[in-house]
Formats: sequence, C-alpha cells, structure tokens
Amino acid sequence: MFNDTIRPRRLRTSPVLRQMVRETRLSPESLIWPVFVAEGEGIYQEIPSLPGQYHYSPDQLYRMVERARAHGVSRVLLFGLPKDKDELGSGAWAADGIVQQGIRKIKALAPTMYVITDVCMCEYTAHGHCGILCGHAVDNDQTVARLAQIAVSHARAGADMVAPSDMMDGRVAAIRAALDENGFQNVPILSYAAKFASSFYGPFRDAAGSAPAFGDRRGYQMDWHNSREAMRECALDVQEGADILMIKPALAYLDLIYQCRQRFDLPVAAYAVSGEYAMLKAAAAQGLLDEYGAMCEAAVAVFRAGADILITYYAPELADAMRKGDIG
Ligand code: PBG
Repeated sequence: MFNDTIRPRRLRTSPVLRQMVRETRLSPESLIWPVFVAEGEGIYQEIPSLPGQYHYSPDQLYRMVERARAHGVSRVLLFGLPKDKDELGSGAWAADGIVQQGIRKIKALAPTMYVITDVCMCEYTAHGHCGILCGHAVDNDQTVARLAQIAVSHARAGADMVAPSDMMDGRVAAIRAALDENGFQNVPILSYAAKFASSFYGPFRDAAGSAPAFGDRRGYQMDWHNSREAMRECALDVQEGADILMIKPALAYLDLIYQCRQRFDLPVAAYAVSGEYAMLKAAAAQGLLDEYGAMCEAAVAVFRAGADILITYYAPELADAMRKGDIG
C-alpha cells in the first residue's frame, strides 16, 4: 500500500538538495596515488597495462610532482622497479635502492608531499615471490627480518610512512620494533592487513615486473572465500602495532571494508588495485561505459562501505571530481 505522504523522491528534486543530503562525504585529503619509480635515467613511459600511469626514473619524477600538484593530490605510495634482481631481493634495502632514491628526489622537489612506501620484496627477487625462499616456499621468519630492514632503509631515506604488503605473519611487530630501535618512532605503519590472492593484481605485475616465476601467492596472501580470517588478520595487526588497516582489493571486498570499520577503531584504507582501474579503462576504451561516472561510483562505494582512505590510480581525476562537487 502506497502511503503518498512519504515520497523519498522529494529529496532528489534538485542538485542543491541532493548534495545537501548526501550521506557520504569525500575529500581529496583521503586519496593516495600509487607511483612507480624505475631505476635509470630519462624514463617517462606510459605503462601499457595501466593507461595514464607511468614509470618515472628519479630525474623524471618532477612530472609526477607537477601532475599531483595540478590536481591537489599530496599523498603517494611508492613502488620501485630495480635494474637488477637477485635471489634475496637485496635491492629492496639498499641505501641507494630505487625506492630510496625516489623518496629523496620527491622530498627534494616537494617537501610537503607525503611519501608512503610499499614494503615488499617481489619487485626485487629474481623469482618474483614476496620473500626469501626455502625450497619453493617463502620462509616467513627470514622474510620478516628482511622486511624490517627494508622499512628502516625507507625511513632513513625520508619515507613518512611504510606499508608492508607481503602478508608474512608477525611483520608489523618486527617492523615496528626495528623502526623504533632506529629512532623512527613516529613513522606510522599502514598495514596491508587483509590482502587477498587476487586476480585483480594482473596489470600491476606487468607494471612492476613482479609476477612470480613459479607457483602463485596463495601460500601467503589470503583465500578470498574468507572473511572471519580477514578480521583475524586485522586484529593481529592491531595488536602488533599497525596504525592504519588496509583491505585489498577494494571493490570486490566491500563487505570486509564494512566489517573492518565496525570492528576496529583504527583508520581503514582500501586499495582499488590495478585490475579495478584497468577494467574501467578497457571498458571505456570500447565505449561500453562512461569512465568518469563509473570511476566516481566505484570510489564512493568504497567510502560508503566505511573506508577513510582510498589508494587509487584515479587519485588525480577523483580529486578533481570531489572539488567540482560531482562526488563528495
Ligand atoms: C607487492 C604488491 C602488489 C600490489 C601491491 N603491492 C602485487 C602482488 O601482491 O602481487 C598490487 C597492487 C595493484 O594491483 O594495484 N606485493
């Protein structure tokens, strides 16, 4: 039975009213832009699997800084592409490693840009796995010791925050202890707390040259059937001293973003990964959907689910959309 005094459409009658009653509010301050720094010189190359994203050698990072500034994006997440790889991934903690060079360069160009670094080994190991191998398996405890070393080397180079993405057990505690011992008590840890063994990382692995040479990552990244286990991972990271919890990927995991928001008091971040971006790009290139509208809708969904922070390749475009009032 229709009670015709109750008409939800009344609040949808004009843009000024719709904007007033929006339940989800967004701002560019909550966006983090992933950036790929490549060892070498004169490299400014569009990444084929991620149209609109680039590999920048340190001398070309001014282009990234200019683009970020033009759109009002002031937080980046750095990934490194080293020239050489080895069994141990030793480039990851080298004082003059590519991420370390990238941090210094960005800080020199733009001291107020907030630089977060991805702490992992897969871009640096010859086998492409996220840690030190023992046979064909990644050895947890040896890897954790290296991750702590990597985090400290990033902090030494000037990183503002570190983000371990490896999914080893106990790495947040080890990284916290190592940072503290080295005088970096104020460098927060953004933990990839619930990171799933996802097919949506495909374009990233092309972009970062980090696909595993054999096997897959299911021995450390999570099985996407599991949500209770995801909450357990978050709880462990809270205990170990994480400052921010991340759910990754984003769009196929909105239920976990929601649960994480309900259960924990820490800020919640979500990572809209390479496959989420590449899907929209590919569909738009074929004229199948309106890229701008779909980008906005997907981003709002993540915040509506409860995220405080969104890591996204669309950060520049989303910042513009927020400023224009199309979202937020
Ligand atoms: C490194 C890492 C990956 C991503 C972020 N950090 C790849 C992976 O785990 O295979 C994926 C990011 C993306 O797809 O955008 N371990």
